[in-house]
Amino acid sequence: MHWPGARHSESERMSTPEHVAIIMDGNGRWAKSRGLPRIAGHRAGVEALRQTVRAASDHGIRWLTVYAFSSENWSRPKSEVTDLLGLLKIFIRRDLAELHQSGVRVKVIGDRQGLATDIKGLLDEAEALTSLNTAMNLVIAFNYGGRDEIVRAARKLVAAVKAGQVDADSIDADTLANFLDTAEIPDPDLVIRTSGEMRLSNFLLWQAAYSEFVFLPCYWPDFTRSDLAHAVQVYSARERRFGGVAPRDVAL
Ligand code: IPE
Ligand code: IPE
Ligand code: MG
Repeated sequence: MHWPGARHSESERMSTPEHVAIIMDGNGRWAKSRGLPRIAGHRAGVEALRQTVRAASDHGIRWLTVYAFSSENWSRPKSEVTDLLGLLKIFIRRDLAELHQSGVRVKVIGDRQGLATDIKGLLDEAEALTSLNTAMNLVIAFNYGGRDEIVRAARKLVAAVKAGQVDADSIDADTLANFLDTAEIPDPDLVIRTSGEMRLSNFLLWQAAYSEFVFLPCYWPDFTRSDLAHAVQVYSARERRFGGVAPRDVAL
């Protein structure tokens, strides 16, 4: 018996998510609750990220996407933006060698045009150095916004139609998906957001169409491997139907 979920891969229905995406939220509140400046929260957040990459790899998660800086985060005070950009640079400079040694392939999504040349250079370097690694994929969403990504994809698609490379009448969801930053990346099975907020904040709008969501109350710097294990466990107890009917109910 065919059911719509059948076109999704076996791993999408199995208990370990192949792709986990995390909205790392709550750094500022973590710092505030300790009487510290927001930058202290962001620094602690980088440490939580390091631990989470290791934990995800130990879990056998093949793809980990982290929301590091949104296209809307530019609206924060200039000093905080500078701090966040500085931390990204430090993270890549300090951690790239270890990520590479551990076989992690780094991929960056988001708009890279208009970024400072040193940041662009670091992001390019991280991708180039690790491009052949196969142990795990770390996707960093930087200067990323789901709407912005879809708009850029639409522009590229229009250009391809104009150049005669794509037939406009044949455009379907897969055609557009192939122009997104995530073209080579499977959709996230599980999206986790920390800090108690329950919204997407422009993260993976297209790709999360059938993702499972787990919202955790802890602030991102407090996120540990046991929180990841908990989220994966909650995920594995969910039933994904992709708009179809679960196989056991098909004949009813
Ligand atoms: C998440 O923490 C980090 C980024 C958005 C870059 P926040 O800085 O949003 O922390 P809160 O939400 O203000 O506590
Ligand atoms: C989402 O968090 C962006 C990142 C985690 C990088 P925000 O803190 O920017 O989202 P809002 O403003 O609370 O929706
Ligand atoms: Mg926030």
